Amino acid sequence: MTDLLPELTPREIAPPKGKLGVLTPGLGAVSSTFIAGVLAARTLGEPPIGSISQMAHIRLGRREEDRNPLIREFVPLASLDDLVFGGWDPISPNALEAATTAGVLDNRDLGAISSELEGIVAMDAVFDQQWVSRLEGTRVKQLASKADQAAALIDDIERFRTENECDRLVMVWCGSTEAYQEPSAVHETVAAFEQGLIDNDDNISPSQIYAYASLMADVPFANGAPNLSVDLPCMLELAKVRNVPLAGKDFKTGQTLMKTLLAPGLKARMLGLEGWYSTNILGNRDGEVLDAPENFKTKESSKLGVLGTILQPEVYPELYGDIEHVVRINYYKPRGDNKEGWDAVDIFGWMGYQMQIKIDFLCRDSILAAPIVLDLALFMDLAARAGEHGVQEWLSFYFKAPQGAADSLDPEHDLFIQQTKLKNTLREWMGESPVTHSEAG
Ligand SMILES: NC(=O)c1ccc[n+]([C@@H]2O[C@H](COP(=O)([O-])OP(=O)(O)OC[C@H]3O[C@@H](n4cnc5c(N)ncnc54)[C@H](O)[C@@H]3O)[C@@H](O)[C@H]2O)c1
Repeated sequence: MTDLLPELTPREIAPPKGKLGVLTPGLGAVSSTFIAGVLAARTLGEPPIGSISQMAHIRLGRREEDRNPLIREFVPLASLDDLVFGGWDPISPNALEAATTAGVLDNRDLGAISSELEGIVAMDAVFDQQWVSRLEGTRVKQLASKADQAAALIDDIERFRTENECDRLVMVWCGSTEAYQEPSAVHETVAAFEQGLIDNDDNISPSQIYAYASLMADVPFANGAPNLSVDLPCMLELAKVRNVPLAGKDFKTGQTLMKTLLAPGLKARMLGLEGWYSTNILGNRDGEVLDAPENFKTKESSKLGVLGTILQPEVYPELYGDIEHVVRINYYKPRGDNKEGWDAVDIFGWMGYQMQIKIDFLCRDSILAAPIVLDLALFMDLAARAGEHGVQEWLSFYFKAPQGAADSLDPEHDLFIQQTKLKNTLREWMGESPVTHSEAG
């Protein structure tokens, strides 16, 4: 046992000077709740509950050193005061209207910040109903060519940057979940994708046009929905060429958050799992979109991947080799954004005896998602200033279907391993040793 941990060289990280613009394609429940929460934090002093970047501490060095700063005091993050917001939406005219329609926040919480919210006016969207059958878009760019749509988004980005005097920008997709799709030839290379934009290839979805525009404008892009956007070879190539970070996909909230809390616990105790039946009722616009089978299929595949990676059935066939995993989402209008998620979990223990766990989570989806948008915006900006590009696997913590940095390796789904990875990455970038929790320290 040594007394001193090895000295590491810190990364060169550019300071977060000036304003950081946060652009969200989709000005709906999640993005309006995120923006309102940041405005409330800086004007009314509301604590940003659920935000790791703002509220969590990080232990440094050995336990007896008693160094435990706030993450935001340890790493050079943009301050909440320096954030400016923009977005695109085919329906919502501005963030106030989006928040009022979503009905997540009470009018009394919107009152003091309503004029600021109203001033965040949605730009016309690149939208195609073929990908979101349940929505009728009216505030849409009237450009037939996908290449022109991409160019128009790049113009929007640059105009926003100039008008708001932003030093840097990040983009977080908060738009509706698009219809299910498998990658195809047009997604293989940047050249094929750009030709596809010119040819109006049917396989290119709106979210991919935003992702392309973002990377071309050197703006880091994170995908909060489960549809294909930056998890495509052409986008990985583009991120490398442009030296821009990306991350995805599908914010880890609600039922999947519970699953990634509970499943690692069952596995840690070597308890078996026979089946996990998850069902949800929700009545917001997201629920309405997901009521269409082609859009639900996109969500389902992102939700189903979680258990296999955590429980490793190939390593523990007698415990997890034959799990029945079912996920359902039902649109039920009266429930609004206050989703109800039920889980029936059938487990077994010593000598194979069966037990059951029931979860009834009365959750508020956007309340759980909003701090994730904030953290992703701040951490993606940090990554860019630290010279990172490509997949930011250390941000897997925030995603249901995290993108792996290496093609051959599955990213971690266990929330606690993801948390360790996130914190150790920050420690390493700042020249601090990773914390291993061994007897030595
Ligand atoms: N709320 C959560 O906890 C959570 C968790 C994981 C993922 N998500 C995903 O995040 C996304 C946003 O969720 P939400 O609850 O805010 O949904 P929402 O329906 O309230 O907002 C989505 C907005 O995107 C807009 N939109 C659709 N297509 C667009 C396009 N091409 N360009 C720009 N805007 C477009 C819609 O008009 C809508 O206003 C959804 O895809 C959802 O599945 C949400």
